[in-house]
Amino acid sequence: MMEFTDRQGRGVVLEDITDENWRSVADVAPADDQRRFVAALGARYLLLSLRGGVWTSLAVRAGEEVVGHVMWAYDDEDGTHWIGGMIVNADEQGQGVGRLAVRALLRRLAALPDCREVRLSYHPDNAPAAALYKSLGFEPTGDFEDEEVVAALSAAAATTA
Ligand SMILES: CC(C)(COP(=O)(O)OP(=O)(O)OC[C@H]1O[C@@H](n2cnc3c(N)ncnc32)[C@H](O)[C@@H]1OP(=O)(O)O)[C@@H](O)C(=O)NCCC(=O)NCCS
Repeated sequence: MMEFTDRQGRGVVLEDITDENWRSVADVAPADDQRRFVAALGARYLLLSLRGGVWTSLAVRAGEEVVGHVMWAYDDEDGTHWIGGMIVNADEQGQGVGRLAVRALLRRLAALPDCREVRLSYHPDNAPAAALYKSLGFEPTGDFEDEEVVAALSAAAATTA
């Protein structure tokens, strides 16, 4: 468990969306100048998950508090799993929560029997996101999705990320 502890010593875990946590997940918000990279509120992603049947939202909890949102999906066209909607509340960033949340999700996805590769995309100007994903082993595929860089990590690498 120590491995998944942020710089404040809080345990970081992913939780399903529940009657208790959905309001906090809906309120998750990036810094104002990060809204060009992601939705202004977790609510946008939460609704996409609820409506679409494609994405599955998860709450990112640090200690007692919900501090972020992340979601995943399976793309049956190319048989890859995708991560999206990663937001840590503006005042909770830089403490290790984002890295722990992505690592926890990578392990969860890699454990699925049909998982062979995990993909995600980020805006080319989003340097913090690019640095985070690169440090976990993601490599750009050369593809772009909605003007975002698509990067991939094998399931084998995701297991130990
Ligand atoms: C990207 C984001 C989720 C990272 O969450 P976080 O909790 O701040 O991340 P961490 O504290 O775990 O830091 C993880 C890594 O991100 C990178 N990083 C974080 N902040 C950074 C900054 N200001 N500048 C450069 N790199 C940064 C670093 O590589 C860092 O690793 P390090 O601390 O070992 O150097 C968060 O900044 C965020 O919510 N941003 C707005 C939404 C967004 O852009 N989401 C990603 C969409 S693809």
